Amino acid sequence: MAKQSWKPGNMLYPLPAVMVTCADEAGKPNILTIAWTGTVCSDPPMVSISVRKERYSYELIKKSGEFVINLTTEALARATDYCGVRSGRKEDKFKRTGLTPVLADIVKAPLIAESPVNLECRVTEIKELGSHDMFLAEVVAVHADEAYMDEHGKFDLMKANPIVYSHGTYYSLGKAIGTFGYSVKKQ
Ligand SMILES: Cc1cc2nc3c(=O)[nH]c(=O)nc-3n(C[C@H](O)[C@H](O)[C@H](O)COP(=O)(O)O)c2cc1C
Repeated sequence: MAKQSWKPGNMLYPLPAVMVTCADEAGKPNILTIAWTGTVCSDPPMVSISVRKERYSYELIKKSGEFVINLTTEALARATDYCGVRSGRKEDKFKRTGLTPVLADIVKAPLIAESPVNLECRVTEIKELGSHDMFLAEVVAVHADEAYMDEHGKFDLMKANPIVYSHGTYYSLGKAIGTFGYSVKKQ
């Protein structure tokens, strides 16, 4: 098998592309799309987002110390892309996309009603890395849409048709091929 050696770069794909909401001091909300995000700790539950300083949202998140991660779906793909190519400096992306802001429980940034899962986050640390600064944050509240729960309250995110982002393209997900630990389970 022949492999080409490429210059160092970001090829850790696929990734979730999430819509991150934040708000300015007057409470005016904004949405930006983030692919450089990840889960970094289970207990306490922590996540990271990496944001370029030039983003309008950067100062909003830095000043407020808060943001919300809103998971995305096939139905939200177009809005997800839009929020990643237009700036809140020039327009109201909630109005433009028709997405619905909903009051969060703890943070001032709003939840996106149409998103199946919202993670309210409080920034604990900002790491200057280079092109991006990484906001490390604790998840302080989670909201899951009952529309994707069965009669026993079991939540199935796959019913929401989540999407991933891979090297410039959005994809929907395919079929389930195994569950945690299935490789060592007796048949
Ligand atoms: C799929 C996708 C992923 C993106 N990921 C990031 C990211 O991880 N970090 C970042 O700073 N910008 C990212 N962007 C770019 C911002 O979302 C974009 O510059 C946006 O317009 C910034 O909005 P704002 O100026 O309202 O904050 C991404 C854009 C797209 C379309």
